[in-house]
Amino acid sequence: MDKRVALRQSIRAKRQQLSRTEQINASNLLTQRLVSHNKIHSATKIALYLANDGELELMLFIKWCWQQGKQVYLPVLHPFCSGHLLFLLFEENSTMIDNHYGISEPKLDVSKVCPLKQLDIIFTPLVAFDSTGARLGMGGGFYDRTLANWQAQHNLYPIGLAHDCQQVKKIPNQSWDIPLPEIITPNQRIICN
Ligand SMILES: Nc1ncnc2c1ncn2[C@@H]1O[C@H](COP(=O)(O)OP(=O)(O)OP(=O)(O)O)[C@@H](O)[C@H]1O
Ligand SMILES: [Mg+2]
Repeated sequence: MDKRVALRQSIRAKRQQLSRTEQINASNLLTQRLVSHNKIHSATKIALYLANDGELELMLFIKWCWQQGKQVYLPVLHPFCSGHLLFLLFEENSTMIDNHYGISEPKLDVSKVCPLKQLDIIFTPLVAFDSTGARLGMGGGFYDRTLANWQAQHNLYPIGLAHDCQQVKKIPNQSWDIPLPEIITPNQRIICN
């Protein structure tokens, strides 16, 4: 467990130290990759996240999705099912609030919730990853719970997003960690397994 704690600290520090210019370049490169990706082209409902803690910024990609008429969803902490996420429609005029972790999320409105099985793509944030698709998150287990059994959800396809500097040789993974089938960085597309 200590290994995971230490890895989280060191990789989070790395991405937090990226300069504004490095972040903008990374976001531009990533967006170019995403908009020419077959699965993303054909997707209509895409879950993603708003960057926090030095994560890859997705606003440029989100704007492209809106222009293409795709529906974009953001994770929202479940109001009573602790440790679980809901995915809410995110539009230009969505009312946003800061959640318990200080992360901006759409204000809860049940009419805007999308069941997991209706999503086409779920872009998954992560702290560190390896070439097998193993991921280490921020430590809440939120995405492990969300992605448990993702293959059984109709069309759902998870894709991890990260800066290249977040790649490590081997993630010390645990039994509950859900590996990703694909990870995209500004400079690589990794198809896992
Ligand atoms: N499917 C699950 N059901 C119940 N508890 C789970 C499940 N998956 C993970 N957990 C619990 O969540 C906690 C945090 O897990 P972990 O350290 O893997 O988080 P993480 O993958 O870094 O975070 P996240 O998924 O939010 O990015 C662990 O105590 C783990 O037991
Ligand atoms: Mg995990």
